[in-house]
Amino acid sequence: MIFVTGGAGFIGGNFILDWLAESDEPVLNLDALTYAGNPETLSTVADDPRYVFVQGDICERELLDGLLAKYRPRAIVHFAAESHVDRSIHGPGDFVRTNVEGSFALLEAARVYWNTLGEAERASFRFHHVSTDEVYGSLQAEDAPFAETNPYLPNSPYAASKAASDHLARAWFHTYGLPVLTTNCSNNYGPYQFPEKLIPLTIVNALAGEALPVYGDGLNVRDWLYVGDHCRAIRAVLAHGRPGETYNIGGGCEKPNIDIVRAICGLLDRLCPDAGGRYERLITFIADRPGHDRRYAMDARKIERELGWRPAESFESGLRKTVQWYLANPKWVANVQSGAYRAWIDRQYGGAAA
Ligand code: NAD
Ligand code: TYD
Repeated sequence: MIFVTGGAGFIGGNFILDWLAESDEPVLNLDALTYAGNPETLSTVADDPRYVFVQGDICERELLDGLLAKYRPRAIVHFAAESHVDRSIHGPGDFVRTNVEGSFALLEAARVYWNTLGEAERASFRFHHVSTDEVYGSLQAEDAPFAETNPYLPNSPYAASKAASDHLARAWFHTYGLPVLTTNCSNNYGPYQFPEKLIPLTIVNALAGEALPVYGDGLNVRDWLYVGDHCRAIRAVLAHGRPGETYNIGGGCEKPNIDIVRAICGLLDRLCPDAGGRYERLITFIADRPGHDRRYAMDARKIERELGWRPAESFESGLRKTVQWYLANPKWVANVQSGAYRAWIDRQYGGAAA
């Protein structure tokens, strides 16, 4: 089986759903169910015999050792993290704890477990560390996109904590030989994203008739990738990536934030017209994020060249799917927002670990 951390979050949840749709291999999902973790995302596989869920913290070394000894996975795919830049500005402590200390605990547990394996299992074992483009810092308009060889220049507490975990992962390969793979991906969007990030926040606020906050001048640029394409890239790297290597993953789709917000408004005007007028009327420019990175863009030629991966979804098709998903799933959104999904957790799991 494979061992996934953070599988009740946005990308990890999509990854597990895709994995179980594509393969018969069982998945163990360890997730602390912070505010960002929602097991309702995985309700369709909750009773699947191939799926095991454990509520727990990646910082707890004994828990990690016990799970590795019990389930004997052939790979770890490490998504668990505090992931929201704005929250990292208000409370960086949680980011250092989970992203740095948690990744350290997981790498150490993996190393000890890996050393108990036979030769063939040691050779095929993989530790896949999921990271972000934000470790590379910020680009000027005229700069080339980030390549794997760019220096690390993280600017936010989130980016710094992810950069630290990338360095640990790299060192565990070079020093101990643990077969580590690292992927650095650009901004994701798609179903099941917590509505604190730009795209779901814009959709949810627009439907509620609330302001659509745009930071600063709205001209900060991100490189957007549909989450299903990210999950496919991770599967490709896990299967065929070279241990010790890092792979950049991106959508080749750079857009300023204001264009994203306007595109969502335009889609909603067509799919769900508001009697009050066009959704763009709700756009509200607000104070900028402190230290706001101006531009991210990924050079994803390495993963395309070595593994044949490239995005399948265009921004237009991906955004349409995403908006349609949020329109079709108001209950998921309401439960996330109201905190009612916590009651669902207690009912479903009773706080019990496996
Ligand atoms: P998310 O915030 O939606 O999900 C994170 C998950 O980790 C949640 O389910 C949460 O409960 C869990 N978690 C947090 N702390 C934990 C702990 N101490 N122990 C166990 N579980 C814990 O994040 P996401 O957007 O799905 O991102 C997943 C990974 O991908 C992260 O490592 C992130 O840095 C990386 N990434 C995200 C993006 C993006 O655009 N969202 C882009 C590139 C890389
Ligand atoms: P976000 O989704 O938080 O991702 P990240 O900061 O990791 O790139 O934000 C994407 C961009 O949108 C970023 O430039 C900040 C901007 N933004 C807004 O303008 N308004 C908002 O309400 C949010 C959440 C983000």
